[in-house]
Amino acid sequence: MTRVLYLIACAAGPAECVDEAVRQAQGRGWDTCLVLTPSAARWWEPRLGELEQLTGDRVRSQYKLPGEADALPKADAMLVAPLSCTSLNEWGAGIADTLALGLVSEGVHLGVPVVAMPYFNQAQAAQPAVARSIADLRAQGVVYLDGEADGYASHPPKQGNPTAFPWHLALTAVEAAAGSRS
Ligand SMILES: Cc1cc2nc3c(=O)[nH]c(=O)nc-3n(C[C@H](O)[C@H](O)[C@H](O)COP(=O)(O)O)c2cc1C
Repeated sequence: MTRVLYLIACAAGPAECVDEAVRQAQGRGWDTCLVLTPSAARWWEPRLGELEQLTGDRVRSQYKLPGEADALPKADAMLVAPLSCTSLNEWGAGIADTLALGLVSEGVHLGVPVVAMPYFNQAQAAQPAVARSIADLRAQGVVYLDGEADGYASHPPKQGNPTAFPWHLALTAVEAAAGSRS
């Protein structure tokens, strides 16, 4: 049976090529639902139709209204990529004011494998809150991919290369996390 992946993208550089990530996930056999933060959805606003076509109308960025049915099928795994510095710190602090953060905050405590790959520069990474948030997420069971060995290390300011974001390594980590629990 096809497994469902929630690919959750924040407004960090690689979000501009999240369509590539959807294609890679689909190519690896995942039924892929795309969740964008409201900021990332703004970036895609002019081309949202492309993402809807690619996912079979499974793109969301807002919480549903009370009484509305669940918009997406149940997730077998969740991948937050790219995770922005802002969303990392909100998530670490238990703030879930976007659908994206609400899904993963609860998901990890419902037993869903949750993997996160960040994308922010070394100046952002130097904030003390970042290390605290990473430790808090890992303590909850989130697979937080950090550093060259895991596929992505923070870049010097103004030297990022969003098109080189290693989506394939993030997906490999999802498969390892999901496989180990299936
Ligand atoms: C053009 C542009 C590029 C940005 N790139 C990044 C980035 O690569 N990493 C990051 O953490 N924040 C980046 N930001 C800042 C985030 O978009 C901002 O913190 C936003 O509030 C994140 O919201 P979200 O995590 O809910 O998507 C960028 C902002 C702009 C306008």
